Amino acid sequence: MSQENFKKSIENIKKQFFCCVLIKNLNIESIENLSSWDNQNTLIEETVNSQQILKYPIKISYQTAFIKHIIEVLIKQNAEINDVVYDALGRLMALIDSKINFKHYLFNEERIILMENSSIISEGTTGLCTWRASLILSEWSLENKEIFMNKRILELGSGIGLTGIVITKYCSPKKYIFTDCHDSVLKNLKENINLNLNSSNKVNEVRKVSWETVNSDTKEIYECDVTVAADVVYDSKLFLPLQNTFKFLLRRGTCSAIFLSCTERNEDTLNEFLNLLLVDNFEIENLKVPSPKYFNWDCNLIVKMFKITHNNRL
Ligand SMILES: C[S@@+](CC[C@H](N)C(=O)[O-])C[C@H]1O[C@@H](n2cnc3c(N)ncnc32)[C@H](O)[C@@H]1O
Repeated sequence: MSQENFKKSIENIKKQFFCCVLIKNLNIESIENLSSWDNQNTLIEETVNSQQILKYPIKISYQTAFIKHIIEVLIKQNAEINDVVYDALGRLMALIDSKINFKHYLFNEERIILMENSSIISEGTTGLCTWRASLILSEWSLENKEIFMNKRILELGSGIGLTGIVITKYCSPKKYIFTDCHDSVLKNLKENINLNLNSSNKVNEVRKVSWETVNSDTKEIYECDVTVAADVVYDSKLFLPLQNTFKFLLRRGTCSAIFLSCTERNEDTLNEFLNLLLVDNFEIENLKVPSPKYFNWDCNLIVKMFKITHNNRL
């Protein structure tokens, strides 16, 4: 029984480690019988020394902090520390952080690997890492697959692609159009698509689209059935172009609804955007935000989800 519990907790820690959940939230203390050298060996082999991590490394400083935390926990438990733990620490301390890192999202024997930039704003864009709203929209999509099944889906501000990869892989869309305005983001996005989607689920396209230039000539982007977007409502300078894009999609295009996932960093900013939509006769339905099941996120921060529609077509 104790070995079974150990296996379960290792699986849990591994899943969190692979996508860099905050060290303080990992609960290494809960691993059963970590004082056993065999168990310490398994923990190291399944995490920092695993082939997947060696091939597609997560941030080195995160891995180093992970081992240091294990050592702290073992010291508190008065446990003797296996040399493999110190060897792993030594190997990692000789390495330096790279600008480009990977994150692995493990669920149901499946894995999504995303290449991302380690700083949240780099090259003047917020699009080179995965944001919480995207994890939540991905989770929500897995709970609401029927919305996407056999539909043409458009994504606005795709960033490095988690939501689109999840929908393409698991929700059987007819077509998925990833869009973003930033060249480095689009380059990174294409690499992540190649890393995760094989020819059997290549129903996708990647397009460069700026909300500022959406007009009646950009017809191809609003030939879709459903639109999704995660964390695109954060800068009031972008509100008018975004509202205009919504108008084209829902009033001129074939899109029936936009599913939005928004991190509420500032209540007034989000409300400002929602009011702009209400004044323009859009309808806004609040959706139930899912609890973390396949993906991990910090539930202390507020994320809201909305379904946006408009009754009057032009
Ligand atoms: C905060 S990131 C969110 C990325 C991704 N959806 C996620 O949640 O991880 C915002 C994204 O919107 C894109 N973006 C910002 N302004 C834009 C605009 N005017 N037109 C199109 N995309 C834009 C950025 O390049 C970036 O990828």
